[in-house]
Amino acid sequence: MTGYTMLRNGGVGNGGQPWMLRWSSRIRLTWLSFTLFIILVFFPLIAHYYLTTIDDADDAGKRIFGPRTGNELCEVKHVQDLCRIRESVSEELLQLEAKRQELNSEIAKLNLKIEACKKSIENAKQDLLQLKNVISQTEHSYKELMAQNQPKLSLPIRLLPDKDETNFPLPKSNRNCRLHNCFDYSRCPLTSGFPVYVYNSDQFSFGNSLDPLIKQAFESTVRTNVYVTENANIACIYIILVGEMQEPVTPKPTEIEQQLHTLPYWRTDGHNHLIINLSRKSETQNFLYNISTGRAMIAQSTFYDVQYRPGFDIVVSPLVHAMSEPNFLEIPPQVPVKRKYLFSFQGEKVESLRSSLQEVRSFEEEMEGNAPADYDDRIIATLKAVQDSKLDFVLVEFTCKNQPKPSLPTEWALCGEREDRLELLKLSTFALIITPGDTHLVISSGCAMRLFEALEVGAIPVILGEQVHLPYHNVIRWNEAALIIPKPRITEVHFLLRSISDNDLLAMRRQGRFLWETYFSTSDSVFSTVLAIIRTRIQIPAVPIREETAVEIPHRSGKAAGTDPNMADNGDLDLGPVETEPPYSSPKYLRNFTLTAMDIYRNWNAAPGPFHLFPHTPFDPVLPSEAKFLGSGTGFRPIGGGAGGSGKEFQAALGGNVPREQFTVVMLTYEREEVLMNSLERLNGLPYLNKVVVVWNSPKLPSEDLLWPDIGVPIVVVRTEKNSLNNRFLPWDEIETEAILSIDDDAHLRHDEIMFGFRVWREARDRIVGFPGRYHAWDIPHQSWLYNSNYSCELSMVLTGAAFFHKYYAYLYSYVMPQAIRDMVDEYINCEDIAMNFLVSHITRKPPIKVTSRWTFRCPGCPQALSHDDSHFHERHKCINFFVKVYGYMPLLYTQFRVDSVLFKTRLPHDKTKCFKFI
Ligand SMILES: *[C@@H]1O[C@H](CO)[C@@H](O)[C@H](O)[C@H]1NC(C)=O
Ligand SMILES: *[C@@H]1O[C@H](CO)[C@@H](O)[C@H](O)[C@H]1NC(C)=O
Ligand SMILES: *[C@@H]1O[C@H](CO)[C@@H](O)[C@H](O)[C@H]1NC(C)=O
Ligand SMILES: *[C@@H]1O[C@H](CO)[C@@H](O)[C@H](O)[C@H]1NC(C)=O
Repeated sequence: MTGYTMLRNGGVGNGGQPWMLRWSSRIRLTWLSFTLFIILVFFPLIAHYYLTTIDDADDAGKRIFGPRTGNELCEVKHVQDLCRIRESVSEELLQLEAKRQELNSEIAKLNLKIEACKKSIENAKQDLLQLKNVISQTEHSYKELMAQNQPKLSLPIRLLPDKDETNFPLPKSNRNCRLHNCFDYSRCPLTSGFPVYVYNSDQFSFGNSLDPLIKQAFESTVRTNVYVTENANIACIYIILVGEMQEPVTPKPTEIEQQLHTLPYWRTDGHNHLIINLSRKSETQNFLYNISTGRAMIAQSTFYDVQYRPGFDIVVSPLVHAMSEPNFLEIPPQVPVKRKYLFSFQGEKVESLRSSLQEVRSFEEEMEGNAPADYDDRIIATLKAVQDSKLDFVLVEFTCKNQPKPSLPTEWALCGEREDRLELLKLSTFALIITPGDTHLVISSGCAMRLFEALEVGAIPVILGEQVHLPYHNVIRWNEAALIIPKPRITEVHFLLRSISDNDLLAMRRQGRFLWETYFSTSDSVFSTVLAIIRTRIQIPAVPIREETAVEIPHRSGKAAGTDPNMADNGDLDLGPVETEPPYSSPKYLRNFTLTAMDIYRNWNAAPGPFHLFPHTPFDPVLPSEAKFLGSGTGFRPIGGGAGGSGKEFQAALGGNVPREQFTVVMLTYEREEVLMNSLERLNGLPYLNKVVVVWNSPKLPSEDLLWPDIGVPIVVVRTEKNSLNNRFLPWDEIETEAILSIDDDAHLRHDEIMFGFRVWREARDRIVGFPGRYHAWDIPHQSWLYNSNYSCELSMVLTGAAFFHKYYAYLYSYVMPQAIRDMVDEYINCEDIAMNFLVSHITRKPPIKVTSRWTFRCPGCPQALSHDDSHFHERHKCINFFVKVYGYMPLLYTQFRVDSVLFKTRLPHDKTKCFKFI
């Protein structure tokens, strides 16, 4: 602009003079130069001629030009005239020369002005283009808003519980209770957040006979549970712990019944109550069988089929680790898949089926008839034959060496102590579990105990008897972790087990470990799971996962930042809208109610399980392509409006299969202000950048006089509690986009590289997408893992010093991943990037994605961080091997390709443009 106006003003002020001046001076100048030429060339010749004819002068030039030495010659009149002329001419000449120089400089100045003008016209054009962009973007957003044409969703009409009377009809018998006739939904609105009231068992006399360990474990987990409320009036469900009772002082069933019925919120029939009976032992008598529990749900680990109400009662796992947490590091590795014994079984049948059946029958009015065939004899014979054949190494024992554990009459009692049983299971590929011969027993805690011991140490459970209801079978797909085989197939079992491939076995073992760890391993997980089951049944979403509240450090900004010098040379392509795009946060919590409906099974059968509600996950389904044009999806920015294109169309739109979005840069920094300022400055003008979150990892606050660059997007400096590399992955509430670009404070990335990485990540939202690749190598002499950064044709990690990942993984890293890993990172002040790669590969079973040919990202002159000494590498070897122990296997996977943009290195006709110039 400025050059242009300057010229216009100048022109008006001088009335056009500069141009005329220049024109007339030029003519004069030409004339004078001509004269000068004549004089300079011809005069000496003439003079020389005269002089040489008159006198034998030695140096004519000297005499003529040197006035003194030429005095005598000038006496010749003619010559004198010429001399005079010459002097006056040379005088004028000098003046003209000065004039000429003056004019020349004026010309130069004017030329500069013209250049400036041209530039400002260019700029103005750019401004115009940007404005047009803003307008079209705004129009687009407006249209989308109109198209949706939906008023903001308001909360549903709140269900209100009736007064204490429940006026829905009672089923004929409590045994017909299902949710629809025994559960009062009005206490549990969808948006209520599932408040749970837990009775304090000390207030009831049977509370005194509760097993103290179970009671203690239960109470401590209740204290920390987020759903538990003190306010009984708003509660959705009411929980009472009734077991397990201790033997000597067990109250009579009628007493228990009476006490239950006098619970303060029992409300005549106990609707919305859950009676929990956690057992720690394999022995079971099933008290609740004979007492009236009204409309209350029952959660325990032993059920008879007449007692169990599917979809209403809950089969829970026995509480093995009542107080102590299991030590996850002691769990045997998942590989090798084949262990010493193909399968093993130890147990003893105390009573015969027939005698015990009679006992069971006396409980019930009338059985359907045919007593179930007793397969146990056939099972024993077949398994013994396998053992004797020595085809495979198996271990089966049908009598215990010591006194068998007490059990239900028809059940195979456990032998030995828990530790001994685990030792055997550690040596077994499969663990046989023979369900009780009494098929009216839906599940027994003895059976469940075998199941969980097997899962704990990675023996794949083989359950003989398909009639059992395994814990939480409504939501857990047990087939993914256990083989469930009908007893009549006993003779085929050996063949079947041998036929399964190692790949499948390891997948089952891994899934078993996930189920055990997530749902059964601790009292917290058992209690949370019981609540989650009910919550899922009545379709209430989990509580949202915690966000880390960012405490901001105020800072002064103002220094104008330059643009990335590397970017000057991307041809005529820019990389996307910069100032034209308004800030845009990713939408949150769009799938609250999908997780308890369509997504139930994924949610329950894949890590991290159903306990958290995430604002967004990388696994949302994508729309078919036409949806964005036919009105079923908004927010899309198709390339060329859908017509496709390269160059300009490509740069103007994000394209792809997901709606528009932006990303957040998260930068961890520690007392390197200058390096940090430079890095921040380089982010100036980065398209699709939503915000920069600087994680200030030092107790020392930044210098007060530090002037932070103004880069057009907010820079939020976040205070941390302690210096920890784990802070890099905290899910700060300030991060408002799904995409996080994690970069080191000294990382040097070009804008086009970042843009390309972002576009790739949008298509691989569940992966780490980034630049520097590393891999895990096998240390042959030590038979363990090594961290390796050498050039190689494979990689398995992408360092998070320059990588995109989904915010979802920040939640998982901080709140779901085992604490032992974060502790290791803090201990070594190293390895957080390896831990993140382990986590993502563990969740997805996919390797990361490396983009572009860039191999390092450090700035050339920056002070070298600690990454290059030996101890750094040594620690990283240790981390890898430790993490493998925590996960039980090596989650990392190799990949042999990297990603470049589609038209990179493609020969194009001259009228076509590439996507990026260099990548
Ligand atoms: C709780 O269940 C166990 C077995 O699962 C059983 O032995 C015990 O009697 C039950 N307690 C009550 C109060 O029902
Ligand atoms: C159940 O209660 C009835 C009487 O109410 C009694 O005869 C029966 O023995 C009880 N059964 C059990 C297993 O407690
Ligand atoms: C989904 O859950 C989040 C977090 O609890 C809440 O803020 C949001 O309003 C919910 N959305 C709907 C549609 O209920
Ligand atoms: C990397 O390669 C060099 C030589 O090519 C080798 O000496 C070094 O041991 C390798 N480093 C690792 C960690 O394998």
